[in-house]
Amino acid sequence: MNLTRTFVFALLSSSLMSTPALAVDAENGKKLYSERCGGCHDTKVHTRPNRIIHTYEDLVNRVRFCDNAAKANLTENDIYDVSEYLNATYYKFLKVKGNG
Ligand code: HEC
Repeated sequence: MNLTRTFVFALLSSSLMSTPALAVDAENGKKLYSERCGGCHDTKVHTRPNRIIHTYEDLVNRVRFCDNAAKANLTENDIYDVSEYLNATYYKFLKVKGNG
């Protein structure tokens, strides 16, 4: 009955949360970043005190913006891989919407 249902729901949601929704690959992001994101800034920009990124969404948007600026030709998947790498390494935002 009710209790069982709650239990099953808890089980389901915890297993969903431990599995990335998309096959986001931070290792690939790291590789892409080191291959395509040089020239204008290094990774110090991601730890500066007055950084311009305050949410995971900001981060994804900034990666898109810089992808254009860098003419790095990242695919939609790459954008998320690079965002994941930067987030896991520097920003540590909670992904509230789970869109990564
Ligand atoms: C054409 C130059 C250029 C290239 C190449 C470039 N960026 Fe940037 N990036 C910038 C500038 C300019 C800023 C803002 C720096 C500032 O405000 O001082 C920035 C800032 C950022 C920030 C925010 C830093 C913060 O404040 O926390 C991120 C994230 C970022 N870049 C990611 C990338 C990624 C990912 C790539 C490769 C796809 C890349 N950048 C390549 C110009 C570039």
